[in-house]
Amino acid sequence: MVLFMKKRIGILTSGGDCPGLNAAIRGVSQAAYNMFEAEFVGISDGYKGLIDGIAREMKREDFSGILTLGGTILGTSRRPYRNMRVIEEDNVDKVAAMKNTYNSLGLDCLVTLGGNGTHKTANLLAEEGLNVIGLPKTIDNDIWGTDVTFGFHSAVDIATDVVDKIHTTANSHGRAMVIELMGNKAGWLTLYAGIGGGADIILLPELPYDTAKVIEAVEQRTTKKHRKFAIICIAEGSMTQEESLMKRKERAEYRTANGVSSVSDRLAKEIQAQTGMEARVVIPGHYQRGGSPSAYDRVLATQFGVRAAELIREENYGTTVAMINGRIGHNPLSEVAGKTKFIPQDETLLNVGVQTGISFGI
Ligand code: F6P
Repeated sequence: MVLFMKKRIGILTSGGDCPGLNAAIRGVSQAAYNMFEAEFVGISDGYKGLIDGIAREMKREDFSGILTLGGTILGTSRRPYRNMRVIEEDNVDKVAAMKNTYNSLGLDCLVTLGGNGTHKTANLLAEEGLNVIGLPKTIDNDIWGTDVTFGFHSAVDIATDVVDKIHTTANSHGRAMVIELMGNKAGWLTLYAGIGGGADIILLPELPYDTAKVIEAVEQRTTKKHRKFAIICIAEGSMTQEESLMKRKERAEYRTANGVSSVSDRLAKEIQAQTGMEARVVIPGHYQRGGSPSAYDRVLATQFGVRAAELIREENYGTTVAMINGRIGHNPLSEVAGKTKFIPQDETLLNVGVQTGISFGI
């Protein structure tokens, strides 16, 4: 016997966008419409819309034709968690405002699609008594408790394509090409794209590098392996071993004082100066977050979306969807919030890299 159930669901996307957000939104809505009587309210531009009360009623047709669409139909913004409880110049109590919007829209629950910051605020709202369900998205793949986030594999495909294409021009000119990929804290994207694209050197935030080892690896490639070019993939959050001993602020000051505009630019200059090999920098930047989701991400985001609808049906709030050991499940928001899934020391792919001759600059 199916019990009659009606749910009014608020939905928002927050933080940096990624391919697969719309596929996940569609997955939630289609499954919810299928499982119970669902009403959707789309909240604009992430938590900003929740604070400012900017929302719109959504109909079934609003969720149609968006499976393959990049970006987010809801819009997004960054509202740093650290300021959520701080009353700033605008004198707005953001937590009270978000609760007020939730209540005045008559929501039964709120679905938040986002990364680490989004999950922290989602947990804050759950602690404040709202019914919240999270969905893990990010090209960084660094959300604790899930094997994978949607958006990650699309970005890996894009970044790998960049590494592929750089090979031909690197070879023609005999250059060292330093490709800076996204990933401030965690280097998953750089690790996957580096291995997938056949990089010679991969530098990650989790493994502070020794510049001398990087130079050595470039030289070995040209002398021992007789190759005239080198491909270096460096995550934007990478640092030297010396810098890793500094606090974040101190590191930023050190870089400013030493004219470091980007980690890739600095490394390229060092390689050119020390090896005599011409070096160039490639920064694909937000291109890595653009476009249509890969087939993998469409499937993953849809699966995650359906699980979110199931959690609503079960009224299993204060949770976030996850892939746990290859199976779709969920974790308590309180366990995920505030944690980052870094590349562990014993990550298989690090060993794979070492065994296939990749230098990690250590
Ligand atoms: O969190 C995802 C991410 O793409 C990071 O890899 C990157 O450092 C950051 O967002 C860039 O953020 P923004 O879009 O605000 O420039």
